[in-house]
Amino acid sequence: MSQVTLITRSGTYEVPVELNETIVAIAKKHKVPWGHACQRGVCAQCRTQVVEGAEYLSEITSEEKLRLRKAERAEGFRLGCQIKIVGQGTVKLAHRPY
Ligand code: FES
Repeated sequence: MSQVTLITRSGTYEVPVELNETIVAIAKKHKVPWGHACQRGVCAQCRTQVVEGAEYLSEITSEEKLRLRKAERAEGFRLGCQIKIVGQGTVKLAHRPY
């Protein structure tokens, strides 16, 4: 089974990929500290930078387009509560709240 790498302020975690689950849900399940509050794309506490594997992630949602500036999105920032892994491949994500 492939793994997703989650980089947080308290360390780096390798957890099994779960297709069609959000990163916040996967992190929660594996007890990885990935700050979040609303899970609706509003608070941005789950802000995430895609380090590798953007092509294996779900499309940007309208919530992300509203919450994140265009320049941030161009730098690979997304919202952990909106991202789902949809393909098999190396994915590395970093938790980067404001
Ligand atoms: S948890 Fe609030 S934007 Fe993701």
